[in-house]
Amino acid sequence: MKPRTRVNHPPHTPLPPGNQPLVAPIYQSVKFELESLAAAERAWAAHGHGFHYSRVANPTVADLEALLAELQGQAACVAVGTGLAAVATTLLALLSAGDHVLGFVETYGPTRGLFVRTLARFGVTHTLLSIEDRAGIERVLAERPTRLVWFESPTNPVLKIADIGHLVATAHRHGALTAIDNTFAGFESHGDLGVDLYVHSLTKYASGHGDVMGGAVIGSAEHVRTVRLQATALGPALDPHAAFLVQRGLRTYHVRRAAQCETAARIAEVLQRDPRVLRVRYPGLPADPGHVLARKQMRDFGTVLCIDLAGTAEQSRIFADTLKLFAIAASLGSTESLIVPPPLLQPRDLTAEQRLSSGIGPTTARLSIGLEDPDDLLADLGAALDAAFAAR
Ligand SMILES: Cc1ncc(COP(=O)(O)O)c(C=O)c1O
Repeated sequence: MKPRTRVNHPPHTPLPPGNQPLVAPIYQSVKFELESLAAAERAWAAHGHGFHYSRVANPTVADLEALLAELQGQAACVAVGTGLAAVATTLLALLSAGDHVLGFVETYGPTRGLFVRTLARFGVTHTLLSIEDRAGIERVLAERPTRLVWFESPTNPVLKIADIGHLVATAHRHGALTAIDNTFAGFESHGDLGVDLYVHSLTKYASGHGDVMGGAVIGSAEHVRTVRLQATALGPALDPHAAFLVQRGLRTYHVRRAAQCETAARIAEVLQRDPRVLRVRYPGLPADPGHVLARKQMRDFGTVLCIDLAGTAEQSRIFADTLKLFAIAASLGSTESLIVPPPLLQPRDLTAEQRLSSGIGPTTARLSIGLEDPDDLLADLGAALDAAFAAR
């Protein structure tokens, strides 16, 4: 064989039996060959058996899917390229022309955009309520045949807590499916509450280091099969290298999250006592309206908090610009702390009335707590408050 041929048919080193790597290899291969045409025909006939093309299935991605299903306490999972791809694929898998979705104002903006801009083009209608509007939820589900109730808890960005037991029971009583974007709550919360599908952005806590994107849809084998078929048709596959990085991130998921939750609780506690802060929203604070429900439903209270400064929009700008350890950046769940300042948080797609119920005010900022030393974060926040209020 000439060198030019050999480099395209390189040697493989088979592993001796009983001698496996401790960290699974990355199957960074688009194609999987079968030993003969007959074997290929048998594999293709037994649909879903083996691997042939990584857009459809890949062993590294399959390892991650099995782990995520287990973490969320469900039977199955399909992983895709981003969190928003997980949202969109789920919606497109479950909904058809003529269906109605119940969604909420307190939902990640691009998800709302899918209801309002994308699904509407395909004849799917929606109602947007506030997650706090229990009477409205009952009324809409009683009045309108609804295929799907889509919600978050804690909600992005102001961390309202949905009464999940009530929501799921009401939806199911009226024949609707339920899906939760469980990104903020993490993998250990809500698995026992009977939601049909759990969607996550793996870009956040799962990978944890802000260097890879991914999404997952987790639930019963039947629901996940429906979503997987849609994913196969649309093609939002997770790259095996990304799947490997998410798996690596998951090795420290629990310790990272526990440390970040502890720091978030301490910061929330300190800021709520500071007169320059009008309001702190963090479900771990006993005074928070969602605290009792969160204590019942969640394993922890999360790593994100929202603050409203007792000042002007200009003072909020000075606050954000003075912070040294909180990067002005989107996302959450990374090792470094982040802030989304008020101008970047405004839900511009909502009506005035919906904006009011969204709970986002002129000085509301979202803080995502990282793994830095809590004393340094508190000192940074204190210095930024001093700067914002000295300028008054
Ligand atoms: C609650 C929530 N869901 C979904 C997403 C989308 O995830 P991704 O950025 O991985 O597409 C985000 C991103 O911020 C989010 O906050």
